[in-house]
Amino acid sequence: MNIFDRFICEFDAGLRTLFAPAYAERPLPVDVAQHAVLPEPETTTSESTMKPMPDMLAREESIRLMRVNHAGEVSAQALYQGQALVAKTLETRAVLEHAAREERDHLAWCESRLNELGGTTSRLNPLFYAGSFALGVASGVLGDKWSMGFLVETERQVEAHLSDHLGRLPEDDHKSRRILETMREDEIHHGQTGMEHGAATLPRPIQSVMKVVSKLMTRSAYWV
Ligand SMILES: [Fe+2]
Ligand SMILES: [Fe+2]
Repeated sequence: MNIFDRFICEFDAGLRTLFAPAYAERPLPVDVAQHAVLPEPETTTSESTMKPMPDMLAREESIRLMRVNHAGEVSAQALYQGQALVAKTLETRAVLEHAAREERDHLAWCESRLNELGGTTSRLNPLFYAGSFALGVASGVLGDKWSMGFLVETERQVEAHLSDHLGRLPEDDHKSRRILETMREDEIHHGQTGMEHGAATLPRPIQSVMKVVSKLMTRSAYWV
């Protein structure tokens, strides 16, 4: 497949990521029978005061955090598709495509959980996709060791971010919690795979810029 054909495939993948329901190859990492689900909003609102009750606030927090995670997975799709598009070797492309497939599961799990909670995905997703795809291509054209370095640093930051969210999710939201735990295991594995494939360590200033960009992204997706 030449670069033009691959670009068409990536464009198609981008449209599907942004506008079609995501499908996971692996089942949701939750056992519905064993875990409690947050109560529905209508059962938690006091009709006399119409003020949100604590359960409703907890659900709202879960929705916001899962929207951020969904946006992160949209970005991960774009990043790895961009990197795979310009990868120099078939081996690097295979690593990226394998990671992208697992990220697609994450995307579908977050989307499904958001739907269950009655939340919506971020309206900024097309912007995140475009920016991440451009970043993926830019890091990929520098060479495979930088592409892998970028993957390792991204996964390291995502792992830290997921640990932070696990600390912030409402205690009773076992389903979201289980999803994030499984995602974190996968992200750690993606990072290790990147190291095994010759990742270069990114310069500190680049790592810092990545942190700032991801903070801007997570803060905006929390609200919008
Ligand atoms: Fe992921
Ligand atoms: Fe990952």
